[in-house]
Amino acid sequence: MILGIETSCDETAAGIVDASGGLHANIVASQAQLHAEFGGVVPELASRQHIRDIGAVVNAALATAGCDWKDLDAIAATNGPGLAGSLLVGVNYAKGASATCGKRFLTVNHLVGHVMAAFIEQSGNGAQSQDAKYSDIGSTRSRHMALIVSGGHTELVVMEGSLGDGFVFKLVGETRDDAAGEAFDKAARTLGLGYPGGPAIQKAAEGATYTKTYALPRAWLGGGPEFSFSGLKTAVIQLARKHGIDGSEVNADTDADTSARVAAIAFEFQESVVEVLVTKTLRAARDHSCESVLLVGGVAANGPLRARLLSESTLPVLIPPISLCTDNGAMVAMAAHLKHRILGASEFDADVIPSLRIG
Ligand code: KG4
Ligand code: ZN
Repeated sequence: MILGIETSCDETAAGIVDASGGLHANIVASQAQLHAEFGGVVPELASRQHIRDIGAVVNAALATAGCDWKDLDAIAATNGPGLAGSLLVGVNYAKGASATCGKRFLTVNHLVGHVMAAFIEQSGNGAQSQDAKYSDIGSTRSRHMALIVSGGHTELVVMEGSLGDGFVFKLVGETRDDAAGEAFDKAARTLGLGYPGGPAIQKAAEGATYTKTYALPRAWLGGGPEFSFSGLKTAVIQLARKHGIDGSEVNADTDADTSARVAAIAFEFQESVVEVLVTKTLRAARDHSCESVLLVGGVAANGPLRARLLSESTLPVLIPPISLCTDNGAMVAMAAHLKHRILGASEFDADVIPSLRIG
């Protein structure tokens, strides 16, 4: 049993996963409300809130899993990438607990954690299955294309290996400017939909009654595996301005017209992001002779993105359940299992690395 702790951004999270990837606990305390009035994460507030919440979150994970500190084999924490002050809380809590209880301490790269979330078995307390076209991905040695899409990252990573032998990661494409999640958050702010923007845009788009009204750009960048979302963000800002949308919340009862426009822009924005992400991921998978595709990270919670990738891919696809797409501790525990099995060592001297990369 490994306890995984995640505090890289604005979620204080702890999860417990066993050696076969069985999920025993996944507790997340979101700070979304705390940061909502600022339209994004305020680093100082985030680290202070992590300090307040981490003890209760870890205790809740242990209680949910029905285990005690002595039942754990190792304790792991995300050490990067992320906000330095936030990372420090999780890493030092995990180090302290490991030292006190005589357990191994392991660090986990947040991006590797997101990828490993796809392999967590949902037979335990999580009870929500993966969206998958094929469930044996990872059991035998093969090459996968992983699209990691979150608030801070949009990366295409080739991963080669298996759950038994571990994986080698190679970064083959990333965003030149905004991350996809960041684009969702900024577009939502422009449209007065609140924070976090991803779920808000998805919900508003579901209510769009007229579609194909607004044309928004797609950045193909010559068709390669690089992404850019800043042009799309600017187009949304200009469109909003043109239609008198000023970023304040629109009341559908008193201003049905503006509310309908907001929904239509949200719909077109989401279409643009989803089309580019899916097209480029499938092209990169073909170019790198991959045998399957993984979709992970907070933006992988997006319904239309999940549906379009599953319907357009001729390769097997694996997507974690929504509760394991956004930041969580279970993904940290799962990644730590592989690291523990393959590299073994404790890492008491490891520090936080806010700009840590994958591959
Ligand atoms: O992985 P994550 O929880 O934190 C980071 O590592 O950044 O990702 C958070 C991002 C936010 O930008 C949020 O707006 C986005 O994931 N997100 C979504 C959805 N749910 C969360 N984006 C689109 N659709 C969603 N349903
Ligand atoms: Zn994340």
